[in-house]
Amino acid sequence: MNKSFLHWPGGKSRLLTYILSHLDGHHILIEPFAGSGVVFLNGNNPQKKVADINPDLINLFQTLQNKGQAFIDECEKLFIEEDNKEKYYSNRKLFNSTKNKEEKSALFVYLNRHCYNGLWRYNANGEFNVAYRGDPKETLRQVNFPRDEIEQFCQLTKNVEFFCCSFEKMFEMADENCVIYADPPYVPMNSTSNFTGYSKEGFGKESQKTLADHVRNAPCRVVVSNRDTEFIREIYSGMKMIELSVQRNISCKGDKRLKDKELLIVKEKYNE
Ligand SMILES: C[S@@+](CC[C@H](N)C(=O)[O-])C[C@H]1O[C@@H](n2cnc3c(N)ncnc32)[C@H](O)[C@@H]1O
Repeated sequence: MNKSFLHWPGGKSRLLTYILSHLDGHHILIEPFAGSGVVFLNGNNPQKKVADINPDLINLFQTLQNKGQAFIDECEKLFIEEDNKEKYYSNRKLFNSTKNKEEKSALFVYLNRHCYNGLWRYNANGEFNVAYRGDPKETLRQVNFPRDEIEQFCQLTKNVEFFCCSFEKMFEMADENCVIYADPPYVPMNSTSNFTGYSKEGFGKESQKTLADHVRNAPCRVVVSNRDTEFIREIYSGMKMIELSVQRNISCKGDKRLKDKELLIVKEKYNE
């Protein structure tokens, strides 16, 4: 498996082989919710169109595509000195204020590796606000720079087209030669728990319904991941649903691991 250099909530590494088996054999892969990129990094599709609503994430992918090795060398410098809480918060402040796109991309990689529990979250003002990774009482191990994974990302994404937009625009690009893999923020397990706030816009029930309508009307096969809930079963009713069970370690307490039930929804090219 080609690993991503990013830690991302909801990453699909554990279900990858299974998801990819539903995407093979189509010329163009459209992935509107890219996240860490682990799905498109492993897909065999000759052409790939990839998007995310997070401008900082897409800026990072495009910086890597355009600047390659020079950017990677600059980025590594942030990992060399000894890491501590003060350095983390000063880099977080710089990330939220800088207008320099390359600097912001390098800080993204640093923060992603040093933040609490691999979370990526913005406040209502659009500022990244995740706390430092460590419990102050623990001795923390130095974080290694993920050089091999970043270099591999550059190799594998030379021809990928990146877009910063909401998912609706990516569905408009689809034709019958495409397959779409949609991995949106999941519906929460209950009203008080579970992270869904990747962006300041959020992704509530209305967004889930709009996505389901786009899936239903798409001119190609669409594969969707989401949590197995009554609401999800209702909005995707009539489509094929495959039940999966997966261990997740994003939860309220970092050391707690949850066994979660998921669905893989498959809508074939022509409506049955
Ligand atoms: C579950 S994650 C995707 C994880 C990814 N498949 C992986 O393996 O790392 C959902 C992603 O959707 C993005 N997102 C949230 N709302 C969106 C929208 N309206 N349109 C496109 N992307 C959106 C988030 O920024 C986040 O990266």
